[in-house]
Amino acid sequence: LKVGVLASGRGSNFKAIVQKVDSAEVKVLIVDNPDAKAIEIAKEFDVPYEVVDRKKFISKLSFEKEIINILESYKVELIALAGFMRILSSDFVERFKWKIMNIHPSLLPSFPGLNAQKQALDYGVRVSGCTVHFVDAGTDTGPIILQAVVPVLDDDNPETLASRILNEEHKIYPFAITLFAQNRLVIDGRKVKIKNI
Ligand code: GRF
Repeated sequence: LKVGVLASGRGSNFKAIVQKVDSAEVKVLIVDNPDAKAIEIAKEFDVPYEVVDRKKFISKLSFEKEIINILESYKVELIALAGFMRILSSDFVERFKWKIMNIHPSLLPSFPGLNAQKQALDYGVRVSGCTVHFVDAGTDTGPIILQAVVPVLDDDNPETLASRILNEEHKIYPFAITLFAQNRLVIDGRKVKIKNI
């Protein structure tokens, strides 16, 4: 399976995906800003990368059109959002229906959107975690594929909680992509069923 990863920053999930997926290969990394650290990881692992600098496009439409051109040129069959800090248009999502995954650092549907770890701490939950889901037109609302749980400790701050969650992200995201590549994910309404687990 040919995978394209979209990232904006550090790229630790991109790295985990490159290292750990089975039955799939990352064909291209696309970043939306030239300073993304993920670029260094692409170089290290010899993954082709493209910078599609949002600032150089007059509209979201033309920005997304360029991303689509790149994805199509690499014949990408699954798009993995890995810390990609832009909301994709509903046209984009519709074009790649159920072929876009995202990872979010909370147990959805709790704490969608930005600063999920701080939201969890401020709320006072005793457990949090991460969620891999298919992307629909909403923000962090699509069908859930996998989740992992971590404890929230009394002396946590957003950074300590984030790093405990990130450790789990690096396990479940590559696994979710592997399951997709092996045709083992079946979407049934809101639910994703996993074959032969
Ligand atoms: C992760 O916490 C992920 O859950 C969120 O953005 C962060 C990306 O980190 N969507 P990295 O760039 O993969 O290191």
